[in-house]
Amino acid sequence: MSWTPSSWRNFPIKQQPTYEDQALLKIVENEIASYPPLIFAGEARSLKNELAKVGRGEAFLLQGGDCAESFGNFKASTIKNLFKLMLQMNMVLMYSSGKPVVKVGRIAGQFAKPRSSDFEEIDGVKLPSYRGDIINDIEFTSEARMPDPNRMLKAYNQSAATMNLLRAFARGGMADLEKVHQWNLDFIKDHTLENKYEELSAKIDDAMRFMSACGLEVKSLPQLHQTVLYTSHEALLLNYEEALTKVDSITGDWYDCSAHMLWIGDRTRNLDDAHIEFLRGVHNPIGCKVGPSMQEDELIKLIDALNPNNEEGRLNLIVRMGASQISEHLPQLLRRVKQEGKNVVWSCDPMHGNVEKASSGFKTRDFENILSEVKQFFAIHEAEGTIAGGIHLEMTGEDVTECTGSQSSPITVEGLSNRYHTQCDPRLNANQALELAFTISDSLKRS
Ligand code: PEP
Ligand code: CO
Repeated sequence: MSWTPSSWRNFPIKQQPTYEDQALLKIVENEIASYPPLIFAGEARSLKNELAKVGRGEAFLLQGGDCAESFGNFKASTIKNLFKLMLQMNMVLMYSSGKPVVKVGRIAGQFAKPRSSDFEEIDGVKLPSYRGDIINDIEFTSEARMPDPNRMLKAYNQSAATMNLLRAFARGGMADLEKVHQWNLDFIKDHTLENKYEELSAKIDDAMRFMSACGLEVKSLPQLHQTVLYTSHEALLLNYEEALTKVDSITGDWYDCSAHMLWIGDRTRNLDDAHIEFLRGVHNPIGCKVGPSMQEDELIKLIDALNPNNEEGRLNLIVRMGASQISEHLPQLLRRVKQEGKNVVWSCDPMHGNVEKASSGFKTRDFENILSEVKQFFAIHEAEGTIAGGIHLEMTGEDVTECTGSQSSPITVEGLSNRYHTQCDPRLNANQALELAFTISDSLKRS
């Protein structure tokens, strides 16, 4: 049972690249291990406390961002637009639930992707699959698809710069409640959505004026002018995660300092495999995807392995069953986990169980299915007397056309090709994400 940051190397592992130059790999791992951490362990502990509140129903979790970040689309404007979108959704959810919203980005490190197949074949040419920019390049040539350890250095540097900008936005005035009108993204042109958001912003202005009138020094309350955005990614490439795993000088505990929160994907959550071994030993809050194949007993064993002390806020179960399967599988899992008295945070990823191939060939997700899975998630929790803690989305603040449907910016199958920019899975655009937030806010108001 003894754990070290490298004990995962003794376990079977899935979804990893095969590096040809092992000596170079070692040099890069050592280089990254010598770099400063990207987060401070104390921040990971704060997030754990926040997530403990989510688990008790005292706060709501909003986790979202790219399916995969890329080296090519590394721009301040992309980061800023996602940040603004998170603030808008935060406002919508906070106002309706009357609870704080814990914001966690899939950002500043979301670079490694599990793939359904090890190879990709186009016109009779077969090459290794693209596994995310931290591993290889998306271009379909044999050189580009060769895994290169040096890409880990680039991922580290991009994560550091992204984190720096996020911290500046969070603390430097962008999140000021007196600026809620300015968070609206230029292309949110849909009138219903825009009006709804403006209505909400006006209520917040009123509340701020009222507080001032009561004599509160609104300007001097940091809670009204700053925010916290935590970071997260799938801990898939364990060479990278191990290199950034450090002992916290305050507690003496190990933390994976590549992000505040790390999660295990649905394809790598096998109880006896390396990813469970690695994540069980770090003290960050962690997540585990729960797909339709998850069995009750298996889930309890996973919970015991990942959270042996039944600590609140430690483990987020991210349900991704698909709109057509959630009602069949989720209720018994909720019942069993409740019966066994396990402290977990339940959140809903309505993206990964709803992928389809459009007739035009694009990988897409239909907004109706996404909405349906979210609504069912809330309804099932309500029926079981358990807590629907949050939502986990693939989304962007850009005006992309990757998911079909929605009322605010209806995207047709034919329209997908207009601005289909994702590196991997189709994301909600800003209109669709905000529309979803308003729908969730209705569910939150009801519960
Ligand atoms: C993801 O979140 O990008 C992902 C690959 O999810 P899952 O492991 O649930 O398929
Ligand atoms: Co994805």
